[in-house]
This record gives sequence, C-alpha cells and structure tokens, in this order.
Amino acid sequence: MLDKTYILAIESSCDDTSASVIQNEQILSNVVANQEIHAKYGGVVPELASRAHQQNILPVVETALREANINKEQLHAIAFTQGPGLMGSLLVGTSFAKSMALALDIPLLAINHMQAHILAHFIDDANDIKPNFPFLCLTISGGHTQIVKVNDFFNMEILGETIDDAVGEAYDKTAKILGLPYPGGPLIDKYAKTGLPVYKFTKPKVKAHHFSFSGLKTGILYFLQKQVKENPNFINENIENICASVQNTIAEILMDKLKTIVKETGITQVAIAGGVSANSEIRKRLAHAQKHFGWTTFIPKFEYTTDNAAMIAITAYQKFKLGLIEDQSITANPRLKVDV
Ligand code: KG4
Ligand code: ZN
Repeated sequence: MLDKTYILAIESSCDDTSASVIQNEQILSNVVANQEIHAKYGGVVPELASRAHQQNILPVVETALREANINKEQLHAIAFTQGPGLMGSLLVGTSFAKSMALALDIPLLAINHMQAHILAHFIDDANDIKPNFPFLCLTISGGHTQIVKVNDFFNMEILGETIDDAVGEAYDKTAKILGLPYPGGPLIDKYAKTGLPVYKFTKPKVKAHHFSFSGLKTGILYFLQKQVKENPNFINENIENICASVQNTIAEILMDKLKTIVKETGITQVAIAGGVSANSEIRKRLAHAQKHFGWTTFIPKFEYTTDNAAMIAITAYQKFKLGLIEDQSITANPRLKVDV
C-alpha cells in the first residue's frame, strides 16, 4: 500500500457540483458550487441541473486541485458518484471522471452516494472518535429517509425507510406552502429556533420501522388553509411557531423509530447523515439521547451533511484500499441502493 494516496472525487448527483482531494483519510479540499437557478422554480429542475454541472465541473475540479496544492499527475485515482441521483446530473460527473482517469491512466472508482453520506463519518477530522461496526445510521436527505445497519464499509442493510416522501422533501414542500424559497429545510430550521411548538400535527402510523411523510405534508397544508381563511396574515404573523411545530413533529417521528430500532437491535452506536442531519432540532435530540439513554452518537460536521465530494473521497479511499476499482465500461445508475 502507498504511504500517501491522493484521490480526486467528483459529486454531481443532484444540484450541487462538488470536487474534493483526499490524502488517505484527510480532506485537502472540498469545493461545492451550489446551483442558485433552482430557487425560483421551487425545486430542482433536472435539465437545468445537468446544464449547470457542465458549466461548473471544470472550474470546481481545478479549484479543488489548486486548494489541495496537488497537480493532477500526483493523483492515484479518480472517483465519481455513480448513483443514486438524477441521470443527467450523474452523467456529467461520470463522463468527466472516466475521461480524466483514462487520460491520466489511473484507476477509476464508482461511489454509491448513500453509502458515502454514511461513510463521511470516517473522514479524519469529522469526529474525534469513529463508529465501530456495526452501527446504526439515520440517513435523512432530500431523496431518502432510511435507518441503515452498517455492518462494514460496503455491507449495509436497510432496517426501515420511507414509503412515500423523504424527510427533506417534507421540509421543502412545507416551506413552499409557507412561501419560502427552495431549499426550505434550512429556513424552517432557522425560524423554528425562535418559535414554540404550539400547533400539533398528527403523526403517521406506519407499520414496522418505516416512515411516511406525505400525510404530514397534507395535514400541514389543510391546517394552514383553514387558518388563512380566518386570518389572511396567519402565516406571516406565526411563521416561527409554525416552523417550530413542524420541526418538532418531524424530529419526534424520526427519534421514535430510532429508539425502537436501538431497543430491538441492542446497537447503541447511532449516527446521522445526509442534508437534513444539519437540522438543529435533530442534532439536539441526538445529543440528548447520548446523555440520557447511553447511546454513542455521531453527528457530522456541517460541511459533510449536504451533498459534497469529501464524502465521496473518503468512500473512494476505502474502496481503493480494497482494490475495488472499475473499468471504462462502468455507467451511472440513478437507482443505486445503499444495500447493493
Ligand atoms: O443530502 P442532500 O444535500 O441532498 C440529497 O441527496 O437529497 O439533502 C438536501 C436536503 C434538502 O431537502 C434540504 O432542505 C435539507 O436537506 N436540509 C435541511 C437542513 N439543511 C438542509 N433540512 C432541515 N434542516 C436543515 N438545517
Ligand atoms: Zn445526498
């Protein structure tokens, strides 16, 4: 094994173009270009996302190499997000990585985006202590809501997942109803901090370990329609309390399932990952569980929660060590599952 392995990783699964350079488990750079264009449409427009990736990818990769102080001839491998994600977006990163690996004559590594969200916990500066296998991970993002049992780096089992909307979608759709721009999750979180959870929403009854968020979204919509009929300024006047109530209900739904699964499996090492793991209420409740229920919890740094290439890079390093490299016939897979 090499003393120092340098890998360039590219992430382009949805609406962020990102590139990162890693030296073994240490991130040397992590550049993310957000695509502002989607805000005015209230959600990601796939065609616009792939066009923006085309424009962003070269400058983002060049910046990542420059910030890492590495030239491309020093790289030992190129990694890219294979899926899941939007096909047009994935294709930009996949084609770019394949061409670059071919030109430099170095190995190519195909990375599962959902595994990468979880494995971000193994970045050298992400936490003081790293999880031991097996551990549980609540993966919450704009596209997924899962509780995963992580047996090893590339051996994961889904114990529970959403049967309809993802939790990030519930946040973003609620924000849209409230007239907030996309992505609304961080804004709901911001307003919730100065509000009180005075409104109650019905929590869904879903069997086993699964989640459901589409009913909650409809419940919020009906509640607001009723209130606005009585007072047209209801939303403006009560935005903080509405957001705190939504946030409180979502956090309760997630924590209830997590507690059940911890009890059933006896696994008390619990991590969170994905864009929604940036949420302050969920972080607070996890910290509380560490203190009061004896869990060991792993909360990622903010920059490793929403989509980023650093998480692709750390996953790539683990694959590289295991010799799990691909040839040029590899293709993007928009429906890749975490438990492949
Ligand atoms: O992981 P991610 O960047 O993209 C996907 O793979 O989906 O997650 C994006 C999601 C969006 O729905 C966004 O609203 C949500 O994460 N999000 C948050 C917060 N920060 C980002 N949701 C609630 N609270 C936050 N602080
Ligand atoms: Zn993601």
